[in-house]
Amino acid sequence: MNSDVDEHTVINVTNNTLPDVCIVSSENQPLLPPSSPGTPNMELADNPHLPPWNTNITDDPEYAEVIKQAERAIEGSILPVRIAAGSSGSYFVRNLEGKTIGVFKPKDEEPYGRFNPKWTKWLHKTLCPCCFGRGCLIPNQGYLSEAGASIIDTKLRLNIVPKTRAVRLAADSFNYPAYQRHLITAKREINESVGRRMHGRRVFQPKGLPPKIGSFQLFVENYVDADVFLKQLDHDSLPEDVTKQFQRQFERLVVLDYIIRNTDRNNGNWLVKYEVKTNSERDMTKNDGSGDEGDHLNNAVTTSTTDEATSTRPAVDIRIAAIDNGLAFPFKHPDEWRTYPFHWAWLPQAKTPFSEEIKSLVIPLLSDLNFVQHELCDEIQRLFSQDKNYDRRFVERQLSVMRGQILNLVQAMRDGKSPFQLVQMPGVIVERLTHDPHGGDVSGPKQFKQIFNDRYPLFSWF
Ligand SMILES: Nc1ncnc2c1ncn2[C@@H]1O[C@H](COP(=O)(O)OP(=O)(O)O)[C@@H](O)[C@H]1O
Ligand SMILES: [Mg+2]
Repeated sequence: MNSDVDEHTVINVTNNTLPDVCIVSSENQPLLPPSSPGTPNMELADNPHLPPWNTNITDDPEYAEVIKQAERAIEGSILPVRIAAGSSGSYFVRNLEGKTIGVFKPKDEEPYGRFNPKWTKWLHKTLCPCCFGRGCLIPNQGYLSEAGASIIDTKLRLNIVPKTRAVRLAADSFNYPAYQRHLITAKREINESVGRRMHGRRVFQPKGLPPKIGSFQLFVENYVDADVFLKQLDHDSLPEDVTKQFQRQFERLVVLDYIIRNTDRNNGNWLVKYEVKTNSERDMTKNDGSGDEGDHLNNAVTTSTTDEATSTRPAVDIRIAAIDNGLAFPFKHPDEWRTYPFHWAWLPQAKTPFSEEIKSLVIPLLSDLNFVQHELCDEIQRLFSQDKNYDRRFVERQLSVMRGQILNLVQAMRDGKSPFQLVQMPGVIVERLTHDPHGGDVSGPKQFKQIFNDRYPLFSWF
């Protein structure tokens, strides 16, 4: 691998806990080693051994049911509607009743995608390819990043990302190249004319437009863009208990974004729901046992936290939904950090140290190496391996950044830091060694190399 291994810290992990941050040395990030003949560039998305279409979501019947509803609606000509804003082709998907049930973002309509319908992006990409996109991200994998964020959210029980998975959908309202549409129309016409003359015989199988792979995120109702909510907050302050609830949700957003190193978390990419409940609604919620913070995004039931002092007035439920997670999981720490800050770091909520609640939720999980490696890294790797341009070496680099982020986060929480202080910590990379630089034997996730990126402390101007 790289020749400068000795300059870095090699950590023997024997007790299954992530090491404390200890040695600082300069980052000298190795370039990818040249492709060896044995390195697979798997075409897994088109691999016949993988289940086709959406059969991989049967492990989640509720989610699978939503996808079925979407397919039925499309068959019934209730087509997905393109979202006007944004830089790529994203669609509100509806059910047969016309109610929006999800947001679908096809891979080939992403900013880098071949069929991005936004012509300004196409012009930008064509005229100035060198400055298009983000150098730290693997291009055209937004749909996997969206689904990956949902995995991290579920595994850490943060419950702020509406369930998102990679699925395939076909619909007339998606952006298909003209030749594909013409081909389908021509085949239909030939079938009809042959059928008229030859007792319904067909020349071509009646295939429709080819399905597109993309991310499908469940739609959450009654949320407003954080931008709008935060402006409102400037005028009307929240009651104390609601402020506390909001702070707890905010911390979850910080944990998610920091771990996945989201490069696009502005205040238009997270939503807030402020719901006032009547006393009877609140009591019903308490009595039906759904008071867990859990599934508020994936079923309609919401919860309320109350205490003696607040039980006399209607309960307020405040929730955050982290949407638009398509520009995360970089394979290196961003060089141009000024362009990709976490915008929440400027909020007053970021100045408060992490609460005991969030610490007790995530520290036990994140300081367990087995959990980090098998539940987070392996799952992300499995997801990313579905892409037809999958390159294991790049995914390893993405995971090295993610492990470094986790290391920093746990350290910051243990040190009683705030989110604002967290983002000022220098970036760290924790690589998994596939061979021991000292000649020993490394099998499995036993050894990690920790590399500090001390070129800049983030947010150093504060
Ligand atoms: N899961 C969702 N539930 C509810 N509204 C959503 C959801 N996802 C997106 N939206 C709405 O659609 C808008 C655009 O979505 P976003 O994911 O930010 O797309 P883009 O990639 O085009 O920026 C958001 O500002 C939000 O209002
Ligand atoms: Mg957006």
